[in-house]
Amino acid sequence: MQVVATLSLKGGVGKTTVALGLAGAALHHGIPTLLVDLDPQANATIALDVEPTTGTVADVLDEPSRSVLRRSIATSAWGEGLDVLVGSEQNERHNHPDPSTKQLERLARALSRLDDPDLGSSLGRTDEKPGEPYQLVIIDCPPSLGQLTRSALAASDRAILVTDPTMFAVSGVQRAFDAVQAERERGNPDLQPLGVLVNRVRPRNAEHDYRIAELRELFGPLVFGSVLPDRSAVQQAQGACLPIQSWDTPGAREVAAVFTALLGRLLRSRSRT
Ligand SMILES: Nc1ncnc2c1ncn2[C@@H]1O[C@H](COP(=O)(O)OP(=O)(O)O)[C@@H](O)[C@H]1O
Ligand SMILES: [Mg+2]
Repeated sequence: MQVVATLSLKGGVGKTTVALGLAGAALHHGIPTLLVDLDPQANATIALDVEPTTGTVADVLDEPSRSVLRRSIATSAWGEGLDVLVGSEQNERHNHPDPSTKQLERLARALSRLDDPDLGSSLGRTDEKPGEPYQLVIIDCPPSLGQLTRSALAASDRAILVTDPTMFAVSGVQRAFDAVQAERERGNPDLQPLGVLVNRVRPRNAEHDYRIAELRELFGPLVFGSVLPDRSAVQQAQGACLPIQSWDTPGAREVAAVFTALLGRLLRSRSRT
């Protein structure tokens, strides 16, 4: 099981879009995936159109047991093979600015219980490797560096740093890298940044070209070669609660191709370790 978090220090840059895009790519490629919606705004849960559950990720962080996990995970309407640990406004109560070690490690503890064969079978996933219901876990983070984002980093193998091509990109990405580094030193030495994904890029926009060049100069090959273009299909697909991979327009195909490449890079990064 590989765990990846989508991270940025401000809202509206595309964390949820990247989490959803990766989840859609994984579904398309038959990779059993769980999306963990840590953001109290629960945008990913809404876009994945899940059935109501009796629990949410807030309950899991209160008590990271198998039974609470089981009642907080739902199958997404996007298709069999993509589940959601559902988000909730209640999760704000787990977003302390200065959390204890125990609080920071609760999500990691809960996710380690996903390997339980009983849980796998109760989620209807005995078909794959018994005892490993998910090959991939994607964590969608809220826009702050409080307990929720830090607990995502404590539970992850990889972090994708999402940014827009603006004048605040460099300082935002630097702070996100610092957060990853701080978590490696604190308690999760396996965590690595997968890279920086620049989102909402417009072609022939001199300011965007300038900001992307600036990011590449500072962060080198950690900035993905492919950037995500600004395409109305992204908003249309999210509004219709459908994966971008099934939205059949040239813009959607362009965006979906970036997510396929990102998924490939993520899966390859695992085989190197
Ligand atoms: N590449 C894109 N093209 C067009 N709209 C986008 C793109 N990426 C994000 N958006 C839109 O921008 C808004 C914020 O994106 P979102 O992924 O929710 O950001 P975050 O999770 O970081 O707050 C959403 O309405 C989303 O549909
Ligand atoms: Mg979001």
